[in-house]
Amino acid sequence: MQTTQILSVEHLFFGFPQGSEILHDITFSITAGSFVVITGRNGSGKSLLLKCIKGILSPTAGTITIDGKDLSKNASGRNGTVGLVFQDADSQIVGQTVRRDIAFGLENLRIPEPEFSQRIEAVTNLLKLESLLHQRPRTLSGGEKRRLAIAGVLVMRPKLIILDEPFANLDYPGVTHVLRTLVDLHADGHTIIVVSHEIEKVLAHADKVILIDRGSIVCESSPQESLPKLEEYEVRVPRMNGNPIPIKDMTWLKG
Ligand SMILES: Nc1ncnc2c1ncn2[C@@H]1O[C@H](COP(=O)(O)OP(=O)(O)OP(=O)(O)O)[C@@H](O)[C@H]1O
Ligand SMILES: [Mg+2]
Repeated sequence: MQTTQILSVEHLFFGFPQGSEILHDITFSITAGSFVVITGRNGSGKSLLLKCIKGILSPTAGTITIDGKDLSKNASGRNGTVGLVFQDADSQIVGQTVRRDIAFGLENLRIPEPEFSQRIEAVTNLLKLESLLHQRPRTLSGGEKRRLAIAGVLVMRPKLIILDEPFANLDYPGVTHVLRTLVDLHADGHTIIVVSHEIEKVLAHADKVILIDRGSIVCESSPQESLPKLEEYEVRVPRMNGNPIPIKDMTWLKG
């Protein structure tokens, strides 16, 4: 079967003006329909890499190809295809109410009725936000804000869904709910990139692991092959009786 790359990053470098270089020569690609986990220590450059992919930050050098198009110089051209849920859910909130916040992106895309309302209803149900639709986003709990941030991205129906630390702040039902949503979206054909150092929650669902350390990719492999490297770079791998637990058990979903 022929595989298509939905995202291809080649020789990407990034540094802030007047700062030192943070991302060094990053090259990787993501197969359409796959589930990829990006991990690495705090401060290794994961969030900055995602912002470069989304087009919020401009790389110093490098090529970003999305769905076969070189969009290195066209950040807005990525809008419909790439959805990014930020690590800090607060920074994504723009609307006066939960409903208006979810609707914001759709207004920009000029989605007409009745599809507009149908899409909002679908993500509201999916992320269990029904009872919060008229609440002010600032008054939501941390976990509710994260569900809202995810809803605001999913409503745009991006082909490539990227989530930066989606489990932060969530309780056990919250984690399992978000994870179930991601696994279902993946089964539906979406491409998912999850950045997380909590690999015991997601690794069972991953096709590939990308490990970043100090701004460079130090491992790109199957979950099984990544285990020794993850431990070498201080990403916690759950163990039992001295051995890493089986990959299939590295999930918070039952059954
Ligand atoms: N606006 C900024 N100006 C200068 N340095 C920055 C800025 N934003 C991030 N950095 C630095 O860039 C490095 C990478 O940051 P980044 O947020 O990408 O890390 P991360 O891998 O996502 O870490 P975490 O696991 O803690 O979320 C860090 O050392 C950080 O201090
Ligand atoms: Mg980060």
